[in-house]
Amino acid sequence: MIEAVGLTKRYGAKTAVYNLSFQVRPGTVTGFLGPNGAGKSTTMRMILGLDTPTEGKVTIGGLPFRQTPNAPRQVGALLDAKAVHGGRSARNHLLSLAQLSGIPARRVDEVLGVVGLQDVARKRSKGFSLGMGQRLGIAAALLGDPQVLLFDEPVNGLDPEGILWVRNLMKRLASEGRTVFVSSHLMSEMALTADHLIVIGRGQLLADMSVTDFISTNSADFARVRTPDGEPQSREKLSAALSGAGAQVLTEPDGALRVTGLPLPRISDLAHGSDVRLWELSPHRASLEEAYMRMTQGAVDYRSTVDQKAGLTQQPQPGFGAPRQQIPEVPQQGFYAPPPPGSYAGAPAAAQAAPTAAAPADPTKPEDPR
Ligand SMILES: Nc1ncnc2c1ncn2[C@@H]1O[C@H](COP(=O)(O)OP(=O)(O)OP(=O)(O)O)[C@@H](O)[C@H]1O
Ligand SMILES: [Mg+2]
Repeated sequence: MIEAVGLTKRYGAKTAVYNLSFQVRPGTVTGFLGPNGAGKSTTMRMILGLDTPTEGKVTIGGLPFRQTPNAPRQVGALLDAKAVHGGRSARNHLLSLAQLSGIPARRVDEVLGVVGLQDVARKRSKGFSLGMGQRLGIAAALLGDPQVLLFDEPVNGLDPEGILWVRNLMKRLASEGRTVFVSSHLMSEMALTADHLIVIGRGQLLADMSVTDFISTNSADFARVRTPDGEPQSREKLSAALSGAGAQVLTEPDGALRVTGLPLPRISDLAHGSDVRLWELSPHRASLEEAYMRMTQGAVDYRSTVDQKAGLTQQPQPGFGAPRQQIPEVPQQGFYAPPPPGSYAGAPAAAQAAPTAAAPADPTKPEDPR
């Protein structure tokens, strides 16, 4: 079991982790979630004795990692798949780790097989793809057949087969009674893999509960109700009846009603009482992603904005010769396609852009060539 008590980490003025207390129990996969910069990797580094807590402590099986006897046989971790000497082959990398911990060489070949890298075992790891590197990192974590495993975003870069494999691997390790602590930003994957969740935001604990409880606490179940297409009056009638009975009713893009606050049998009875036929009445559970977004929306540090591309528009420089003419963007047909004849001759932009197959309706706003 991993146990953190009042764990705090400051880097200068930045508090990366604050007063974090939680337990990660054996026999289950515990997901570790939080927005970018929330403090997940920092917490994992403190668990593994790679960073010293400013305050509080964290133990594995009752002892700090550094005091754990023969720790690599007790605890396996994948924190950074790139933390490998690129000049070494996959096999030699694992062999060097094995020798440090008194693990026999044949175990290296075993784990290479487990992660599917046996065919490239003698290739230098600097030529590995992102997913191959992740697999090598997972092999290193499994090397000592440890009881406690930590994985920081293990499915990053893995192909669908690899993602499924990691999911099954985590579940199997937990079913063998091991402690499995795994961070990820893939909510759909976490929903399928984890039994329990620890969610942090800005270094602080937001939730510590089962996946099922997390979803039901942070989202509302709803029913989808569809009346026959082409009978808007039926939909209006039902909507009024449902609202009158205290439901919240929203119309979905396809015309169906999203109803919260009433059980399905009651919705059915109200439709019957209003003499409205139904084409659909189905229960819906919110996804882990919806529940996660709802919970963490106030703790997101890095939010994207719409790309206005205003920084690409050259402003005329006042007092420096004649005002510059804005060069219209011309939709290109391929790499280095020449501009259409007559372009850049001072004609209005809309008149200049040659109508090509790829040209959008408004030539002043060409399509993103990507
Ligand atoms: N060595 C360091 N020195 C200074 N600041 C650091 C250091 N390591 C982490 N931080 C800061 O601590 C905060 C938490 O970082 P951390 O890497 O733990 O987040 P994370 O939850 O793993 O994020 P991500 O999902 O992006 O991997 C960030 O603001 C980061 O800039
Ligand atoms: Mg991280």
